[in-house]
This record gives sequence, structure tokens and C-alpha cells, in this order.
Amino acid sequence: MDNTDPVLTIDVISPHTNESVGKLPDMKVDEVGGLIDKAHTAFLKWKETTISDRAEIVMKAIDSLEHSSEEIAHLLEQEIAKDIEAGKKEIERSVEYTKFTVSATKDLNGEVFFGDSSKGLKKGQKTGYSSRVPLGVILAITPFNYPVNLAITKIVPALMMGNSLVLKPPVQGGLASTKLFECFIKSGVPEGVLTLVTGRSSGIGDYLVTHPKISMIAFTGSTVTGHHIAEVSKGKVPLLMEMGGKDSSIVLSDADIELALDEIVKGAFTFCGQRCTATKRVFVESEIAQEFIERIVEKSKTFKVGPLISSVQKDLILAMIEDAKANGAREVLGGQAQGNIVLPTILTGVNENAKLFYEEQFGPVLPITIIQNVDQAVNWINTSRYGLQSSVFTRDIDKAFSIAEKIDTGTVQINAACGRYPDNFPFVGVRDSGIGLPQGTKDTLLAMSRQKLTVINKKV
Ligand code: G3P
Repeated sequence: MDNTDPVLTIDVISPHTNESVGKLPDMKVDEVGGLIDKAHTAFLKWKETTISDRAEIVMKAIDSLEHSSEEIAHLLEQEIAKDIEAGKKEIERSVEYTKFTVSATKDLNGEVFFGDSSKGLKKGQKTGYSSRVPLGVILAITPFNYPVNLAITKIVPALMMGNSLVLKPPVQGGLASTKLFECFIKSGVPEGVLTLVTGRSSGIGDYLVTHPKISMIAFTGSTVTGHHIAEVSKGKVPLLMEMGGKDSSIVLSDADIELALDEIVKGAFTFCGQRCTATKRVFVESEIAQEFIERIVEKSKTFKVGPLISSVQKDLILAMIEDAKANGAREVLGGQAQGNIVLPTILTGVNENAKLFYEEQFGPVLPITIIQNVDQAVNWINTSRYGLQSSVFTRDIDKAFSIAEKIDTGTVQINAACGRYPDNFPFVGVRDSGIGLPQGTKDTLLAMSRQKLTVINKKV
């Protein structure tokens, strides 16, 4: 290429103004292929380093991330409209997660196997010991809503286990991801051990997920994209995928209503409901339904929301509201948009025909359905295509446990809204909410490595 040619770029569009707030390189497959080759070469050296050396570099990177907190939080505010405090919190929890993961890596041990349980083998004839070895180059694809946290929870376990990692961030969130990447590079992560690849998914997405030097894909994002990746990668590499959710809260008549209201309002409207774990549906028992609805409307009126990620997303959300109303739902709050902002919206009487009842809404809209008994709600939750989290509000702890046992989601929260935090807890989605391996601290370390057995054969 002629040196005077401009580098191809993509504009990062602000949700506030629909205008560009920065640019990212628009990489093409040739460049990406070269970077993956380098990542593979770097892996061959990195896997030979000690856990303690890796820990030192990762902890330096995390220090640097902490120091860049203010700057990154401002980028998040510009490119995804996350408020500054929430941005800082995202960085804080990522630092905490890293400390847990580094320590969990240091605690990982193998097992010893003795062959003499098998018929014909003598004592000491065969002794095996297992260890964890890295997989190779891991591809991490992250979404716009947590560009830092959902990158860190992939980068740190991958590097600690001796893998190299190629990070493909979203376009909106790509500026903060670039800063995060720089924190690792300036802290001594060798070239190619961590690689940033930016570009349009339509151009490089399939190339990345089918590249023969990619040994694992860790993805967080929509169910549609997750299914597409699973299909084109044809089961050739392990997948760790967290996808959509339709997280529901059940409010029983004996619940602490104040607590349920606080949790559900935050759960539904924080970051405009653009969280996989946002509360996306409420089932309330008929005995308290009227009081609950009146009070949740009152409480939600003053909840401050920012703009949705794009005008396209705003239109999708407004269309879902209209579809619910056309199917008999009553809008008891909100429904209006100002720019890309959709005000907190609550609909009652949302029935099974409405998309809002069964599809994931990534927006500040809460459908409420009155139930006559809890089994009805449990059945709706268990027959949903999604199965990330759910929650139950009741003062009767025995009842809470027996309902939790019946619910088939990755996590059931008792007396709290759905949510992943703390990030060292296992995070699992069933049905269309996840594919493959679970996430956590130890869980992700195991997912990003494999067991290797060495057998000592002795003459006896
Ligand atoms: O890891 C961030 C995301 O997966 C969910 O986090 O706290 O919004 O449930 P949270």
C-alpha cells in the first residue's frame, strides 16, 4: 500500500448525538490473518512462562487500568452513554475480578492417579499426574454494554493459563477497549500475546471465527450472533458463550414489597435495560398486584435514563411497545422517546401473544403480568427460549427454596434482582442464553485450558 494512503477507519457514533466521537481502524481479512499468525507465534513463547511471571504482568496492567479509570469512564460515556459513575464501577469490578482470577490460577493444581485399581496392574506400575495446559489463541468477542468488564473476564483467564488472546470489541465501546488494550501492552504483555482487532463484523467476523489458528471462541452478545458463530465454527473449537436473557422476577403476595420495588426498578432500568441480566419481565401475584403496579409506576417516574445505544435500537423498542399494546397491553408509564432516549416504560396485561412477553427487549421497558399462582410463572420461565437468570421475592424462605429448585435458569436470585455481580460467582446461561462452558473465576480458567496427563510407567 502507498504510504500516503489514508488508513481505513470506522466512525464510532455517539448515542447522544448520532455523530462521530472517534475512529477505529477498519481492518480487513489480510491484516487480521497476519495478526492471528503473530498471536500464534507469541503463544508458543508465552505458554513457557511461569504463572508467577504472568501474574506480575497482569497485575501491572490492572494497576494501569485503575489509573486510567477516569479517562476510560469518559470514553464509555461518549460512545455508549454509560454514566461516569457506572463506568468507574465497571472498571472497579474488573480489577476485583482480576485479583480473584490471578489468585485462583495460583491455586490450581492437578491430580495424581494410581493404576493399581485396574486388574492386572501392579502397585506403582502406572502413576499418572494431570496438569492444565493452554489451548492456543483464544478469540474474544465482546458486546457494547460492558466493553471493559466483558473483555477483562476473557483476557485475564486466557493469559493466566498461558494462551494468547485476540480481542474483537464492538465498534461502540471500541475506544474504551483500545485504552484497555494499551494498559496491557504498556505493562509488558509481549507483542502478539494480546491483539486488538477492530473492523466491521460483516467483513471480518466469519473469517475470525473460522480461522484455523483460533483454538477457542469466548463470546458475549446477542443470541442471533451467538448461534451464527456456533453454526459457522462447526463445533471445531470449544465455545464459551453468554447470550440473551429474558430474566423474570416473581413477586409473591408475602414479599417485602419495598425491597421488591427497589430491586426491580433498578433491575429493569439501569443502563436503560441494556444488560443481559436486566429484569425483563415481572410476574406478580394477584393479591398484591394493584398496590405493586401503582407503586412501581410512582417509583419509576423519576428514574433517570440516558439514550439507547442507537436510533435503530430506539425504533425496535418503540415497535415492541406498540406490538404489546396491539395485543391488549396497557401502557401505565412512559412510551415516549426524546432523541434516542426512551423514558422508563411499564406495561400491564402483557400476554403471551406480545413479543414483549417472550422476546428479549434491550431497553427500559418492563412488562408486568398478573398471576394466579406461582406455578404459572415457573412454567413461563421454564418454557422461555432464554434461561439466564430469574428471581423470586418472598418472605417465606422455605417457599423461596422450593421455587428456586423448580426454576430452570442458570441462576435464581432470592430476594434480589437478577445480576451477574459479584463476578467470581459462576455465570451460566441455559437454552438460548448460553452455549458451552460456564464462566466464573476457576470455571473460566478450566474452560481456557485442557487437562494433560503424564503417565510414569515403572518396571515392577
Ligand atoms: O459482566 C457484565 C454482564 O455480564 C452483566 O453484569 O452486573 O449487569 O448483571 P450485570
